[in-house]
Order: sequence, then structure tokens, then C-alpha cells
Amino acid sequence: MNSTQQNGPITVGLVLGSSRQGRRGPAVAGWVAETAGRHPAARAGEMTVELIDLAVHRLPMLDEPVPARFGDYRHEHTRRWSKVVAACDAFVFVTPEYNRSVPAVLKNAIDYLDAEWRGKPAGVLSYGARGGGQAVEHLRAILGEVGMAVVPGHVELQLFTDFQWPAEGVSPTANARIAPAPERAAEVAVMVTGLVDAARGAVPVPVR
Ligand SMILES: Cc1cc2nc3c(=O)[nH]c(=O)nc-3n(C[C@H](O)[C@H](O)[C@H](O)COP(=O)(O)O)c2cc1C
Repeated sequence: MNSTQQNGPITVGLVLGSSRQGRRGPAVAGWVAETAGRHPAARAGEMTVELIDLAVHRLPMLDEPVPARFGDYRHEHTRRWSKVVAACDAFVFVTPEYNRSVPAVLKNAIDYLDAEWRGKPAGVLSYGARGGGQAVEHLRAILGEVGMAVVPGHVELQLFTDFQWPAEGVSPTANARIAPAPERAAEVAVMVTGLVDAARGAVPVPVR
């Protein structure tokens, strides 16, 4: 448990789970950060949101000789990543759906660690052509395996309805503006409330 978990402000790591060139992830994560920043807990200084962009961390495909469960990290990049994740009390995972699952870069980043995730609450927001529900199902299973408690419900953004597309229409490279329906912001607020309550210990977090 992070030392700030009970009394100080809660640090929510906003994990951006895509890394490809031209990705829409930063727009989505920016909107989530802005929306979470309007939450009463953030306004009261009880919660801060830290963006954790996997494109910035650039972890290689898992190359540790010992599984993370043993905490025996041999590489400097793993120790750096460990510190980033250990510093957070809770997480929001922002994931697109790639071929009905999470991007490999996100799965890889989770696989690198174990104790740093364990016992901490997580919220999930997905986006995609079909909203990303299948990616969320996979992510829930993965997060459960590293002992995280996923707060109920998730937020889903549809590429066709939660973005505003230019006059020339929808295309993979079109410069679309993120413009989620108002209900999506309310859903993010509910998720953040769940995370803050769980991180503060108001809701028991199951640990394996
Ligand atoms: C490799 C790949 C596979 C995709 N598969 C799905 C999918 O299974 N379901 C879906 O809703 N969207 C799918 N999409 C659309 C993505 O969700 C959409 O392009 C989204 O913007 C990807 O996130 P990113 O721009 O941050 O990389 C796929 C996109 C890519 C690049």
C-alpha cells in the first residue's frame, strides 16, 4: 500500500495504453484527465491525476529473466517502470481495442510488474470503432490476475459518435475532435468516485 493511500492526496495513474504513430489515445486521455480534474476530490486537492503514457516509457517486450511475482528485477528500465507504478494509489486504464483485445504495449507494461499493481483499485475506459467492450473484458481478467480491484462499470467511447469528424468524413487519418456525449463525463465521475473511495479504504479491495 502506498504511504499516501489513507490520508494524503490520492495519486491516480492514467495509463494510456496505445503507442502507435498517429494514435487517438492522447486526445482520449486528455479528455479523461480534464474530466477527472473537475471531480470534487480533485478540486478539494484530495486527488491528483498523473498521465502515464506508454509511448513515452517505451518498455521493450518483456525481457526480465525472472517473473515479476518474485520482484527480482534485473533491468534498469524495469526498476524505472516499477517506481512509476509504485508511486500511484489507483489507476485509470485508457485502452483502445485492437483485434478484440488490448494493445500489446499495454499487456506488456502490466506483465512487467506485480506487487506494484497488487491491491490497488482500477477503472477502465475503452474506445474503438465498436467501443472496445471486448478489450475491457480481457483487461479485467489481466488486472484481476495482478490482484487489482476493478471498480464496477466502465466507460466506452465510440469512434463514430463520441468524436466530431471533419466534413470530408470518417477515415483512419482524419483529424477528428474528441466530443463525448455528456453521459460519458458523468460515467467518468462515477468511476473516479469509486477509485477514490476504494483507495481511501471505504470499499474493501480484495487482495489474493
Ligand atoms: C490493429 C488495430 C486493430 C483494431 N481492432 C479493433 C477492434 O477489434 N475493435 C474496435 O472497436 N476497433 C478496432 N480498431 C480501431 C481502433 O480502436 C481505433 O483505430 C482507435 O483509434 C485505436 O486507438 P489509437 O488511435 O490510440 O491507436 C483497431 C485498430 C487497430 C490499429
